[in-house]
Amino acid sequence: MSRAANVTIHRSQFPEAVRGDLLASLRARRVNHKFHYDSVRQTQKWLALHQKYSASRNDADCRRNYENAFVAAAAEIKSKSVHVIGLGCGGGQKDTRLLKLLKSRGREVFYTPCDVSTAMVLTARQTTLAVLPEENCFPLVCDLATAADLQAVFRARPSTLGSRLLTFFGMIPNFEPERILPKLAALVRPQDFLLFSANLAPGPNYAAGVKKILPQYDNDLTRDWLMTFLLDLGVARRDGELRFAVENGRFGLKRVTAYFHFKRSRQIAIESEAFAFQAGEAIRLFFSYRYTPERVQQVLAGYGLKVCDQWIAKSGEEGVFLCCPRR
Ligand SMILES: C[S@@+](CC[C@H](N)C(=O)[O-])C[C@H]1O[C@@H](n2cnc3c(N)ncnc32)[C@H](O)[C@@H]1O
Repeated sequence: MSRAANVTIHRSQFPEAVRGDLLASLRARRVNHKFHYDSVRQTQKWLALHQKYSASRNDADCRRNYENAFVAAAAEIKSKSVHVIGLGCGGGQKDTRLLKLLKSRGREVFYTPCDVSTAMVLTARQTTLAVLPEENCFPLVCDLATAADLQAVFRARPSTLGSRLLTFFGMIPNFEPERILPKLAALVRPQDFLLFSANLAPGPNYAAGVKKILPQYDNDLTRDWLMTFLLDLGVARRDGELRFAVENGRFGLKRVTAYFHFKRSRQIAIESEAFAFQAGEAIRLFFSYRYTPERVQQVLAGYGLKVCDQWIAKSGEEGVFLCCPRR
């Protein structure tokens, strides 16, 4: 393996764009989730908590569901080569299992790990090199929410012959659906496949289901990961308290939120710009929408993405959805 990696950095993650997004987060008192994956330290903390709490890592049935979804996608794709585009690839574990499966079915595989975090993209690249040669991997750092020219960016990727299979695993909970889904729908061309996964609220009672999964967020590892953003900006733990709650969002959806409530005043300075937080004020650090299978289908359909098959964990806490080409 060569000692260097070629990574394309889209302008949406150039320093001036990231700085603008950070200032916007502090002004609005709503942290853009991408700032929780910014540094190597945050990436490591997230990977550790994902390892501990993610159903796809810890629940054999959920893991099997992913495998079954990959088998079904592989059966649908008839072309000799497949380009997997991992949107928000994280550490690339799921995409790597998918690539391995496609390869075992005789396909030539290409991979674009795409994430806002360079550390994640490099981790995904490393993971995936067990399955494909370096020259078939095209790492891309990019902000999926703000990049306006993503279609052109992906068109310009090498090896776009054959089929394209986009993955959007575990991404939808951390975005306002009306912001990200038009972007996703524009990226999925009529002839493309999409594999999508979402954290779900288990059981027949939606509100009770969301309440049940609250401990998956309100725990030490998640608190430590989320607080890193504020601590790195000079806030001290004793300046306030991190509180988790359930709130109502758009489309009749519910989400788990985490707000840091200041108990005393604190100023945050980003170069010449200062942000004053008074005692009693709060900043939203995080939200995670919980869907149900019906809500996933409904919301995706609103953006022209039709689910053709789905695999729901017996726990009811995670689902994988396949959208097939629109013929
Ligand atoms: C919950 S993780 C999911 C990771 C992976 N897909 C999985 O299922 O294990 C969310 C990922 O989205 C990335 N991310 C967050 N905001 C993003 C954005 N605006 N554009 C691209 N990636 C983003 C994070 O860096 C992180 O790797």
